[in-house]
Amino acid sequence: MTAPLPHLAPPPARIDRSFLQDVIAGLRAPQKSLSAKYFYDRRGSELFEAITRLPEYYPTRTELAILDRYGPEIGAGLPPGAALVEFGSGSTTKVRRLLPHLADLGAYVPVDVSAEFLRSEAEELGRDFPRLRIEPVAADFTKPFDLPDDLKDAPKAGFFPGSTLGNFEPEMAAGLLASFARTLGAGATLIVGIDLVKDKAVLDAAYDDAAGVTAAFNLNLLTRINRELGADFDLDGFAHQAFFEENLGRIEMHLVSRRSQLVTVAGIPFHFASGETIHTENSYKYTVPGFRALARTAGWEHARVWTDPDGLFSVHALTASTIRRH
Ligand code: TRP
Repeated sequence: MTAPLPHLAPPPARIDRSFLQDVIAGLRAPQKSLSAKYFYDRRGSELFEAITRLPEYYPTRTELAILDRYGPEIGAGLPPGAALVEFGSGSTTKVRRLLPHLADLGAYVPVDVSAEFLRSEAEELGRDFPRLRIEPVAADFTKPFDLPDDLKDAPKAGFFPGSTLGNFEPEMAAGLLASFARTLGAGATLIVGIDLVKDKAVLDAAYDDAAGVTAAFNLNLLTRINRELGADFDLDGFAHQAFFEENLGRIEMHLVSRRSQLVTVAGIPFHFASGETIHTENSYKYTVPGFRALARTAGWEHARVWTDPDGLFSVHALTASTIRRH
């Protein structure tokens, strides 16, 4: 019989330096924070897919219902031959609801950071929509990027569903909208999905579900840091917390330390007081007029808005009026 091997976690073979630096900087700040962009490792992406199917998480299914119901109107508003640019296309679930209504589309341009995912999604989409011209662009949509040259003369439309804009600070959100306007050009249309302000209980439940999937998603960030950066977060030492902060109009997601404890990340110790939190995500909610006002500051004029019968979610059509330099 052989003796069991000692249970030692080996240090990760290769460390992503910018991930490590972001984590250290975030944990050194007076209000500790971690960047939400690190949620989406393989497990995080799976958990996020599960969130979108939760009974409490109304945004995804409500937005899909709006796209299904008003797809013909949304499609009719786009110029013939338009190139439709989706910012952060991911799994292309939402654009699939629009495409059947966009008979005259010149091209579909999915933009995503994950080049590999982008290629496999584009291939699959091409099988389902064989007459569609698909021109994927591997880019981070939060930074300026160029559209393919051959689309220079096509009218442009943008698509930014999922209320992803709400995950940016309003000032950043306005900056992002202005950069979309520069990418798409004057006269372009933008179709954007925005979650709406509503009863606090409904919002709280959407980000703190009974089955604990959102909690698992939030805590998975610590699991990932343990594995990839050689940290020793005790998963039982932290709890998921999410609440609608009415004064700021946003959902805040935190990880709360259940006790006073010391955590080591790549050999660096960080102290947590009992009840101290790590802020991991915001999700801003807007009113229809509030969102229009924000869009206007970024050079987008309001054209149309579609909502569900309960007024939970909104899909806006905006028109780029002026192109502002930075
Ligand atoms: N943008 C969506 C929202 O804010 C999806 C999302 C992003 C999300 N990060 C999240 C949902 C974290 C739950 C938890 O609702």
